[in-house]
Amino acid sequence: MSTISKTILVTGGAGFIGSHVVRLFVNNYPDYKIVNGDALTYAGNLENLKDIQDKPNYVFERVDITDEAAVEQLFNKYKFDAVIHLAAESHVDRSITDPLSFVKTNVLGTVVLLNTCRNHWKGNYDGKLFYHVSTDEVYGTLGETGFFTEQTPYDPHSPYSASKAASDHFVMAYHDTYGLPVVMSNCSNNYGSHHFPEKLIPLMINNIKNSKPLPVYGKGENVRDWLYVEDHARAIDTIFHKGKLGASYNVGGFNEWKNIDLVHLLCSIMDKKLGRSSGESAKLITYVTDRPGHDLRYAIDATKLNTELGWSPSLQFEEGLEKTVDWYLANEEWVKHVTSGDYQHYYEEMYKGR
Ligand code: NAD
Ligand code: TYD
Repeated sequence: MSTISKTILVTGGAGFIGSHVVRLFVNNYPDYKIVNGDALTYAGNLENLKDIQDKPNYVFERVDITDEAAVEQLFNKYKFDAVIHLAAESHVDRSITDPLSFVKTNVLGTVVLLNTCRNHWKGNYDGKLFYHVSTDEVYGTLGETGFFTEQTPYDPHSPYSASKAASDHFVMAYHDTYGLPVVMSNCSNNYGSHHFPEKLIPLMINNIKNSKPLPVYGKGENVRDWLYVEDHARAIDTIFHKGKLGASYNVGGFNEWKNIDLVHLLCSIMDKKLGRSSGESAKLITYVTDRPGHDLRYAIDATKLNTELGWSPSLQFEEGLEKTVDWYLANEEWVKHVTSGDYQHYYEEMYKGR
């Protein structure tokens, strides 16, 4: 057994991106102890980590990051060298119906973690790091052209993006005020396995499979820049090890899709996989009332991460999408588990009368 060189708290490690980050770090760095700190909300699922749960350098701790005393206890127990902070409320539609829980977890929770790092590291910052994982949605929306760079001013429009923007500002404020060693990244929309089916791609896959209506918001003209989740996890690995303290890095797929085109592509991939005739799944497309404050277009310029740290996306979108569909079709139990109970209620409430 190798000796432990670093103990890292990954918050939100039972969620979609967090589970990919935990898996990558546990497998690639046997000398790091990875503590997955997660409250296991509706979005957190330990089944996501079944393949690595027995590894000697992995531990799970159930913790709510808004609970100062519990976070303090965790830091006392593990004496963390670094935090990779992914825990968040992450779904825009939920933030529109319940903004306060976004403020609690995304803003208060982040400040609790920053404060605890500051108190525990006591100005002795050698080898310490607080890595904040954020989103491109803090930049607001683009028109038909242009890209978000690290210099684009923040202009969030949803309670979700406003709460993430506030958390980003706190992270940078702790760097500027207390010298806390921080690094941050702002990533575009992710897709891949273990994605909770409230977000566009897994929701559409699940509905296509079950021949349910495919709810496209507005005219389906909104554009997102899609990145394979394992490429995001690799970017986090790169930035964690090579990022400049106090810097932020944009992460994106150079891969823009209008929602409606993406839904058509998914329909055609799934027609083939499910043995349906061409065009059959697309008949399920239903235009529904738009999301309020719906950002038109996101597109990331990830040049800085590419030129300074050498990261680039590895997968073509069609290939990634096909792998993702295959995963969902092969993991019916996972889907059944996360879509039973509360999910049905959520779905009815969110989509009724739209
Ligand atoms: P997710 O919703 O799938 O997972 C969030 C995880 O955080 C869950 O495991 C949940 O149990 C945990 N959590 C929530 N509240 C908590 C609390 N109070 N204390 C402890 N744990 C709590 O989210 P995701 O899509 O994996 O996103 C992870 C991070 O990446 C978020 O910070 C998000 O803003 C950011 N991000 C996401 C995307 C995307 O496309 N999904 C893109 C860019 C950035
Ligand atoms: P989503 O996956 O919620 O990510 P975000 O809003 O954070 O970008 O949505 C992606 C896009 O898909 C967004 O433009 C909203 C749209 N959308 C639909 O058209 N129908 C849906 O049922 C959902 C969940 C999203």
